[in-house]
Amino acid sequence: MIRLDRVTKSFGSVEALQDVSLEVAPGEFVAIVGASGCGKSTLLRLVAGLVRPSAGHVALDGRPVTEPRAETAMVFQAATLLPWADVLRNVTFPLRLMRRAGGDTEARARALLATAGLAGFEHRLPRELSGGMQQRVAICRALLQDPRVLLMDEPFGALDALTREEMSLELLRIWQGREMAVVFVTHSIPEAVLLADRVVVMSPRPGRIAEIIPVELPRPRGFEQEGLPAFQAAARRIRALIYGGRAAHAA
Ligand SMILES: Nc1ncnc2c1ncn2[C@@H]1O[C@H](COP(=O)(O)OP(=O)(O)O)[C@@H](O)[C@H]1O
Ligand SMILES: [Mg+2]
Repeated sequence: MIRLDRVTKSFGSVEALQDVSLEVAPGEFVAIVGASGCGKSTLLRLVAGLVRPSAGHVALDGRPVTEPRAETAMVFQAATLLPWADVLRNVTFPLRLMRRAGGDTEARARALLATAGLAGFEHRLPRELSGGMQQRVAICRALLQDPRVLLMDEPFGALDALTREEMSLELLRIWQGREMAVVFVTHSIPEAVLLADRVVVMSPRPGRIAEIIPVELPRPRGFEQEGLPAFQAAARRIRALIYGGRAAHAA
């Protein structure tokens, strides 16, 4: 469904990505991990159609991605809500902007907010919410678009550890009920293993795919699986790739 074919992206003399090829199937959950600066955000922005490759091809359903598409939604690390609009208007904003809002849009938005634990907050402004709640609003906003591709760039990075674990499980529950491919960038190796069908490990300077690790754990997933040999083997392999020989034990 998503296909990157030998993609290189340079910014001036900086090669952010070099010769990256990756395919993501419909409904697949792919996590991307790697050190800062190895091109993770650039990869997402290419798939989102926000930037164009310097060489190679990015395609969605066999069509080249040349601009943002209605079937793709993105969640950034910071919630990026409109400060003057209430929660409900923030969540429905992209659909209204794309003139895709229908008679059931508000009801669907309210249902999604309820799922995210935000019932009763529909008419609050972003500044009246905690960081975790704001991020849940941003995720609802993306999901309301009913995207076939959800791109998430360290979406839980600003959250405390407990909220983060709760949100991961909530995301899995929502994903499980839809045919939606997710590409999820994270710094957390356990989060990547918990969530993903495959974990793409990237190496820096220039950004390349070091290895793709399949995660052989049954679904539905939960943190109790962290103790399983398959979980630990995947996490250990990812750590080894990221840290090489060094600091693998302290990590
Ligand atoms: N718009 C840009 N202009 C110039 N350099 C950029 C731009 N975006 C990213 N880069 C550079 O490309 C490299 C990869 O960046 P990025 O994709 O943000 O990495 P990551 O998300 O893995 O931390 C970095 O060296 C970064 O400085
Ligand atoms: Mg980034």
